[in-house]
Amino acid sequence: MQHTLSIVKPDGIVRGLVGTIIAHYEEHGLRMVAARFKQLSPQEAAGFYHVHRERPFFGELVDYMVSAPVFISVLCGKDAIQQHRTLMGATDPKNAAEGTIRALYGESIDRNTVHGSDAEDTAKFEIGYFFPQAEIYSDKIGLP
Ligand code: CMP
Repeated sequence: MQHTLSIVKPDGIVRGLVGTIIAHYEEHGLRMVAARFKQLSPQEAAGFYHVHRERPFFGELVDYMVSAPVFISVLCGKDAIQQHRTLMGATDPKNAAEGTIRALYGESIDRNTVHGSDAEDTAKFEIGYFFPQAEIYSDKIGLP
């Protein structure tokens, strides 16, 4: 069992897609064990995406992520990091496999509706960035 971080980005929030997206994950074996709505500050968004700070799209990414609140959750399941990435689809919705969240709802590579951790070390960093251990309820709902 693994934990991974999910974010429904501003374009998903303003179109009312949180329930649809989380239902899709739950229907495919991922369980939500922590969650919150949050309006990120520019500093919080920049810190979260610090690995991209040298990339040309960094400024736009930060501006976009603070343009509306986001829905942040921790998902738990067998091989959760890869399972979540498979369900999201490729970063650029143009390349995302049919039926994936980004193929269904993504508007562009910037407005691609969802974020998910891409590896075990990033999942650890990203979960810890938003949730103290005491707010991750896997053990209280019988998950490892
Ligand atoms: P995400 O998975 O949240 O991680 C970083 C985000 O940067 C990515 O989704 C995209 O929305 C955005 N982005 C914009 N341009 C690019 C690009 N050329 N390559 C990767 N990510 C990009």
